[in-house]
Amino acid sequence: MVTSIFYGSISVPLYLFLSISLILGPKQALGFPISYLVPEKLYNSIFLHKDDSACPAKGFYTYSSFINAARSFPDFGKDGTISTRKKEVAAFLAQISHETTGGWATAPDGPYAWGLCFKEEVSAQSNYCDSTNKEWPCSPGKSYKGRGPIQISWNYNYGPAGKAIGFDGLTNPEVVANNSDIAFKTALWFWMTPQEPKPSCHAVMVGKYKPTPADLAANRTSGFGLVTNIINGGLECGKGDDNRVNDRIGYFKRYAEIFNVTTGPNLDCSNQKSF
Ligand SMILES: *[C@@H]1O[C@H](CO)[C@@H](O)[C@H](O)[C@H]1NC(C)=O
Ligand SMILES: *[C@@H]1O[C@H](CO)[C@@H](O)[C@H](O)[C@H]1NC(C)=O
Ligand SMILES: *[C@@H]1O[C@H](CO)[C@@H](O)[C@H](O)[C@H]1NC(C)=O
Repeated sequence: MVTSIFYGSISVPLYLFLSISLILGPKQALGFPISYLVPEKLYNSIFLHKDDSACPAKGFYTYSSFINAARSFPDFGKDGTISTRKKEVAAFLAQISHETTGGWATAPDGPYAWGLCFKEEVSAQSNYCDSTNKEWPCSPGKSYKGRGPIQISWNYNYGPAGKAIGFDGLTNPEVVANNSDIAFKTALWFWMTPQEPKPSCHAVMVGKYKPTPADLAANRTSGFGLVTNIINGGLECGKGDDNRVNDRIGYFKRYAEIFNVTTGPNLDCSNQKSF
């Protein structure tokens, strides 16, 4: 009997796995914790102001909650070469920074030092209840406004996120702004989970996205701009120059520099159609 390590349905003989490990280095072949890519010092140098008294999320987005949540998503930051992994993590941190930013043009340390300042949407315009969605029906009186690092919103996102993570997103959406581990898990759930017809943000950033003919016709080319399209393309993409898109890019450029990786092409989504 040949001892094997399983990669999905493909069985790799142990000797082959060991030779791959010798070429790539065991860390790349086996994966290693996010805390290696993002040590606590680095996390704190990225989010310089998250615990300022001016930030409503002061004390909420702890390093340990980020690391704990990442443990539930074993492919996050573990797919590809070290620079691919760093680039994915930088892109994730950039997108959640824009979603929760407290920065402004002349802010101390610059506009891109103020990620993770907010934990819930301020003065939401609606309850974000899509009552036509029967699979994830809204609970009376509940608001599915933006909460947590990715500002998850709408009943049809809270429902499946809660089911995957282990909380009742429809009757208890508030927990996303009260429990730091759950908050980060909603952001990683959104990042890792493809929602038809969209690819996952993860697939795009690690180079596993395969555009369909419809994607090609819509200029949905791989890159950070496509991730922005997945997150909020309906409002931000295909409209030429956009301040919100530029804010996301500004964060990504700062973080890519901190991680010492290149951002790659297609940073914006100005000529992409949304999904
Ligand atoms: C979350 O916190 C808010 C106030 O910050 C409170 O009203 C609400 O009951 C809390 N919900 C949960 C599920 O802990
Ligand atoms: C795709 O990009 C090209 C070049 O920028 C533009 O002319 C075209 O209108 C775009 N197509 C769509 C569907 O947005
Ligand atoms: C950054 O990356 C370049 C190219 O991979 C490398 O030569 C350089 O040593 C790295 N710098 C740091 C500070 O890691």
